[in-house]
Amino acid sequence: MPFPPYSYRDRNLYVEDVDLESIARSAGTPVYVYSATAIRERFRLYNDAFGDVPHEVFYAVKANSNLSVLRLLAAEGAGFDIVSGGELYRVLRAGGDPAKVVFSGVGKTRDEVEYALTSGIHSFNCESEAELALIDSIAARLGVTARIAMRVNPHVDAQTHPYISTGLRDHKFGIDIAAVEDVYARAAGFTHLVAEGVSCHIGSQLLDTAPLKDALDAVLALTGRLRAKGVPIRHLDLGGGLGVPYKPDQREPDIAAHIRAVCARCAGHDLKLMMEPGRSIVGPAGALLTRVLYRKPAESKEFVVVDAAMNDLIRPALYQAFHEIVPLRAHMPGTFTADVVGPVCETGDFFARDREMANVLPGDFLALCTAGAYGFVLASNYNSRPRPAEVLVEGASWKFIRTRETLEDLVRGE
Ligand code: LLP
Repeated sequence: MPFPPYSYRDRNLYVEDVDLESIARSAGTPVYVYSATAIRERFRLYNDAFGDVPHEVFYAVKANSNLSVLRLLAAEGAGFDIVSGGELYRVLRAGGDPAKVVFSGVGKTRDEVEYALTSGIHSFNCESEAELALIDSIAARLGVTARIAMRVNPHVDAQTHPYISTGLRDHKFGIDIAAVEDVYARAAGFTHLVAEGVSCHIGSQLLDTAPLKDALDAVLALTGRLRAKGVPIRHLDLGGGLGVPYKPDQREPDIAAHIRAVCARCAGHDLKLMMEPGRSIVGPAGALLTRVLYRKPAESKEFVVVDAAMNDLIRPALYQAFHEIVPLRAHMPGTFTADVVGPVCETGDFFARDREMANVLPGDFLALCTAGAYGFVLASNYNSRPRPAEVLVEGASWKFIRTRETLEDLVRGE
């Protein structure tokens, strides 16, 4: 079954007031579709739950960086969490406020730091002492002061897929919470840095919020120790990480309840609270539409070959991720069990294995659900496949927010 905001009306799959098959037919497939209303509502769930508590919600651009998505979030007052100069460029092109941008990531380059400082971003989430020295030297040359937070690694197990878990001792991310107080002490020696924050992100796709609360407790305790040593911590950046349902039996964490619990735990600490959600804002809003090309029986199983592939949506191949697959017209009787695969020349090019699914035929359309986050942004041109189009739905209308790549696009720059 599809997840909201996708639902069947008289066995035709809709998002908002648009029949998805009409998009598939006129935009062609594969095509990513996003619901503007869902993105807006999910951002508001975060933003409104803070109430009067000083806060900023920095949407994690990496999850879906289409300019139209950024533009609609900027209009809602979102800030942006970036991890590259390219993402900063997108935010600025989309009309995002640079004063509401935080720059995360373990490998910021000299050029990226300079671009961020001259753009006047809010702050850097720093991951090493060498990075502090770099930011300080560039800030000094530009005659500005950079606000920074150290990203701490609290040794909390996010209990998610190992590739998207970031808060354990042997992960490349952050600075060990046991060592970070000394780093703050040394940071005070840099004349063009103000260490005013603590940041933390332990992983992605967390369906249980308990690890996030453990991390928050560790970071709050650290804040107290830092303040006692005279480091004037003003903000906490709690990262992203709330999960979304991909499988029918998965329950989404209650975003508003989680935020209220965070606010309650931080009450009386005089801290501005920041978060960097990505997936939980855009994930459920999106789907990837694809067309069935062939049904191919084999010795022990049957394959459904579709026109989307791992280059369009790599999550199943990379993280063994599950995406619900549903027909756009649910008229066919019965189900069967199949592997859903794409045309790419890799055995790893599958969307589902041994999946019981609708009894589709060549020409039918399918939706890969919950594909709004880490979908198009991870798409590539592997096998010289042009990347798909992207469409934004609002109410009863839809528009292209990125056209399908052409063969000419494939060879640009070669
Ligand atoms: N902040 C930082 C520092 C991050 O590294 C991330 C995600 C976020 C915020 C946003 O996390 P979210 O709210 O989206 O969970 N490609 C993978 C997910 C990679 C997540 C990377 N970092 C996937 O498709 O599952």
